[in-house]
Order: sequence, then structure tokens, then C-alpha cells
Amino acid sequence: MMKILVIQTSLSQNANTAILAKKAYDIINEKGFQGEFIDLRERTLPFCNGGKIENYDAEVQALYKEVEAADAYMIAYPIYNYTFSGACKNFLDLFQSGMADKKAGILCNSGGIRSFNFGAGELMMSMAFHNNVTLVQPVVHTWWEDFKDQELVSEKVIEKLSLMVDRLSVNTHTE
Ligand SMILES: Cc1cc2nc3c(=O)[nH]c(=O)nc-3n(C[C@H](O)[C@H](O)[C@H](O)COP(=O)(O)O)c2cc1C
Repeated sequence: MMKILVIQTSLSQNANTAILAKKAYDIINEKGFQGEFIDLRERTLPFCNGGKIENYDAEVQALYKEVEAADAYMIAYPIYNYTFSGACKNFLDLFQSGMADKKAGILCNSGGIRSFNFGAGELMMSMAFHNNVTLVQPVVHTWWEDFKDQELVSEKVIEKLSLMVDRLSVNTHTE
């Protein structure tokens, strides 16, 4: 069965990014695919030091295998300073090569409504240029108005998540 791995990279305890990512995970499973979820708040990762993955500790090596085993990805990040957060970038510096030649979708969450596109474009280039990761469109963006009582309430965003899962699952290579 096709595995879609959702990677939640906000480190905030009250992260709206996490609510968005969890909704994506639920939709993956509702559609009959195998959803997997990595929440960076539950992991302790070192900074990427440029070394080989075999030279990192056991947690990093196990996580690399988890990433490599997935067929497609949804990467969720908070917008910091008009771009993706440092924690998200560090995750990709460590693990992006495990995603090579597969598809991914971008989920991002910001405080304001006007500042999300810059980071998404940079991330698309980084993933396409370096690891031939194909980014499906559209990018799914949320801001505070899309949430109420710790739930994602925007029907438009939920529709976009559903479309993203459909696009990730089409012609995706599975072993
Ligand atoms: C360091 C920092 C920089 C931020 N920069 C922006 C920004 O450029 N644009 C914006 O709309 N919100 C910005 N914000 C607000 C966050 O995007 C907002 O708090 C969002 O909810 C974070 O996602 P989270 O709830 O998943 O942690 C920034 C927040 C922090 C902490």
C-alpha cells in the first residue's frame, strides 16, 4: 500500500502547523493510503554537519530509514521571516536525499496572510534541483483565521489537502 509520510516541523507546543499536518494525515488514511507521521516536537535532532548519515547517532539513522521507506511526502512548516523555518530546513538537509525521485506537497502556516509564497518557491527549487523531488501543486497555506478551537475549519483548505493527496498518489512509484 502506498505510504505517504507527513513531516510536521513546527516546534511550538500550540502549533497550527501541527493541526494542519494532522488533518492531512487523517485524509491520507481516509482515502485508504497508509499515512505516516513525524512530529519534530517528539524528536531530538542534531544540526546537519555535512557528514554521512552512517556517522550520525542511531535516532538519525532510524529516521533516515523511515523517510526513505515512504513513497511520497507532505512537508509542513511554519513561516518565519517570510520563509520556511530553520527546523524544517535542517530536517531537509539531513533527510532530503531519502526523498529523491519521489513526490512531495508543501503545507505551510503563517501568522499573516501575505507572506507564504516566498519560502514555498525556494523549497520547491531546493528539492527539485538537488534531489529531483517533484512538488505537486497547489501549496496548501493556512493562517490563524483557518482555525477555531484547535481545529482546522476552512473547507477550502480541506479541499486542497484532499487534492494534494490525490495528486501525490497518481503514478507514484511503489516497490
Ligand atoms: C521568528 C518568527 C518569525 C515569523 N515571521 C513571520 C512572517 O514573516 N510572516 C508571518 O505571516 N508570520 C510570521 N511569524 C508568525 C508565525 O508564522 C505564526 O506564529 C504561525 O502560527 C507559526 O506556526 P505554528 O503555529 O505552527 O508554530 C513569525 C513567527 C516567528 C516566531
